[in-house]
Amino acid sequence: MHTNEIDRRLSIAPMMDHTDKHFRYFMRLLSKHVVLYTEMITTGALIHGDRKRFLDFNEIEHPLAIQLGGNNPDDLATCAQIAEDEGYDEVNLNIGCPSDRVQNGQFGACLMSNTELVSDCVNKIQAAVKTPVTVKTRIGIDDQDSYAFLENFITTVSEAGCNTFIIHARKAILSGLSPKQNREIPPLNYERVYKIKQQFPLLNITINGGFTDLVQIKSQLEHVDGVMVGRAAYQNPFMLVEADKLLYEDDSPLPTREEILGEFKDYAVEQIDSGLNIKSLTRHIIGLYQGQAGARHYRRMLSDAMPKDINAIQFLDKIIHSVSRTPS
Ligand SMILES: Cc1cc2nc3c(=O)[nH]c(=O)nc-3n(C[C@H](O)[C@H](O)[C@H](O)COP(=O)(O)O)c2cc1C
Repeated sequence: MHTNEIDRRLSIAPMMDHTDKHFRYFMRLLSKHVVLYTEMITTGALIHGDRKRFLDFNEIEHPLAIQLGGNNPDDLATCAQIAEDEGYDEVNLNIGCPSDRVQNGQFGACLMSNTELVSDCVNKIQAAVKTPVTVKTRIGIDDQDSYAFLENFITTVSEAGCNTFIIHARKAILSGLSPKQNREIPPLNYERVYKIKQQFPLLNITINGGFTDLVQIKSQLEHVDGVMVGRAAYQNPFMLVEADKLLYEDDSPLPTREEILGEFKDYAVEQIDSGLNIKSLTRHIIGLYQGQAGARHYRRMLSDAMPKDINAIQFLDKIIHSVSRTPS
């Protein structure tokens, strides 16, 4: 399925080492509508690496975007084509990652100051695929942090054909801060993103950074077209449970945590049958009981080694049994 008209009111951020297909499946149990993103996949990894491992997804993950990292327009176009053939609904280009590894490769956030190259990349990708092409960026880098700098970036890259931007509302500091610090130390500046939407009303603008609940998220939609949530979705996934109702006017019954766990177990059984280690699955659901009585016990059960005398399915059953007896 390709959804050219993706409803971008809410999306779950690309997160390395987190948003693999198992986590995305889990997210889909919480919301039928949010847009899901892969982790950043570099062009080198996709062209030369284990393609199936990077691209594999489950049909229920749609609408699903692939995030690419790279700076070679031809390689990006090749990767976009590969992703489109595989069935991805959107190709997103990472212009926001500040890590040293990414900077050494001259891509990610440092590309914000090379609008010509970003435009070239967008152009080549657009020419290669019908799938929508989007850019995820920051509001600035280092001392290039004025409104005019961001405005120039958006103007140039939109003229190259990108009409959807996801803007992490803080700048990236390219030397001296780790990626984690770069998600915490530079201050959030939502106003700057709102101003971009006001100035470019025809562009689709998603805001990102620091959102932790649906009320807050819904209120952002008065200013911008969409909200992207990263850490909160991972740390407290159940905060999303009312997303379909509140943001998409979908009145399907809300699942309980236990129902979600039960559905995830059915998925886990299939995956374990095909050889997957249970910990690759359970690590993603550790936050499900965040804030509930028994949350610590649940987290501990999932984090501890699996008892030797039971199999993976019995282990999951034991956890489900244990939490379903805990008063909430
Ligand atoms: C563990 C982790 C990995 C991340 N990996 C990526 C990535 O691969 N690509 C990307 O564009 N952003 C990445 N980010 C940044 C998030 O997409 C998002 O922009 C950032 O966390 C701010 O949103 P939040 O405050 O809702 O978490 C990552 C964030 C975290 C916490």
